[in-house]
Amino acid sequence: MIKPISKLSTASYKHIAKPILFKFSPENVHDATIKSAKLSSKIPPLKGLIKASWAYQNPILEQTIDGIFYKNPIGLAAGWDKDALAAPLMASIGFGFTEVGSITQHSYKGNPGTRLWRLPKSKSIMVYYGLKNDGVDVITERLKKMNISIPLGTNIAYTNSPTCNDDKSAIADYAYSFEKLANIGNYFTINISCPNTYGGQPFNDKERLHKLLTVLDDIPTNKPVYIKLSPDISQKERRDIADLAFEHRVHGFICGNLTKNRQLAQIKDINVPEQGGMSGKIVQNLSDELIADMYKYSGGKKTIIGLGGVSNAQDAYKKFQAGANLVQLITGLIYQGPQIVGQINNDLAEILHKQKINNIRSILKNY
Ligand SMILES: Cc1cc2nc3c(=O)[nH]c(=O)nc-3n(C[C@H](O)[C@H](O)[C@H](O)COP(=O)(O)O)c2cc1C
Repeated sequence: MIKPISKLSTASYKHIAKPILFKFSPENVHDATIKSAKLSSKIPPLKGLIKASWAYQNPILEQTIDGIFYKNPIGLAAGWDKDALAAPLMASIGFGFTEVGSITQHSYKGNPGTRLWRLPKSKSIMVYYGLKNDGVDVITERLKKMNISIPLGTNIAYTNSPTCNDDKSAIADYAYSFEKLANIGNYFTINISCPNTYGGQPFNDKERLHKLLTVLDDIPTNKPVYIKLSPDISQKERRDIADLAFEHRVHGFICGNLTKNRQLAQIKDINVPEQGGMSGKIVQNLSDELIADMYKYSGGKKTIIGLGGVSNAQDAYKKFQAGANLVQLITGLIYQGPQIVGQINNDLAEILHKQKINNIRSILKNY
């Protein structure tokens, strides 16, 4: 049963917090929320109160995947806590795991001008940050000092810079961050899908990805390695990437990133900016298809973290049905508030009980 305080939080977010927050620019709200989350993470009684109000626990939601124990399958996706400023708070909110980044070798202030827009009719966010982050040296030192009680993913990409727009320097950039983070956190995400302002290309292409993975294979780490894919890649690229995963140290896929497809029927807003990728309900179906394809092409032998438009237990359930082991979200938090994490876990546990299923993996549809 959902805690009464969580129900109250839903109503307060919808009728009070969201109308106020949505009056300000999305980036200012993002920065302010990160600041307050960082502050809250340093006040133990407040963390305890947040946990008591929102977090939900049930052994039925527990899983061990690639040697990592997860108390529940709902994680915070990369991009919200880019610089690992608020990671210790995520367990209190009720997340089963959290991912920081994308992190690159060198720091980058982000693309000039506006780089975040709300698409409220489509329940989506348009993102054009361009891999803004403090750089791996700073973030590594920050993470070393943190006590994060849930599994931590470290998401790496290559620096968005005019000096890093050819394959050789991009691969060296990834390798630098990989080595720095080899013993920090619990799993790696290799973000091959992020758009790059300075002419660098995503690593979707078979030969280029093979080159990148060959270099990463030689860097020692005990962390599983997942590749984060764009939902816009072709069927051939999906098959090639699944095949490559068996030739290299790749334990699975994160499906998926933002879509740049401006033709989708799910886009209900007018005046959609030309630059950037879209999250939330716009990308949801594409992401479910990507999960199903990667599950099929890898014969169900690789881990899949599914994300894109998850805002309730049914959305998460569909991703588990398609082949995901875990799910993540960001946009659901923005449109519905942080209490949805505990609510999704609560509702998932109820669905499992009703269906007389005793673990998340059994949701998987038979393909
Ligand atoms: C504000 C914002 C920033 C993001 N930044 C990153 C990023 O730096 N690296 C990354 O791999 N994905 C990034 N993403 C993509 C998300 O991790 C996720 O793949 C996408 O938003 C779909 O999930 P959602 O619909 O639950 O938001 C970002 C998304 C948002 C909304």
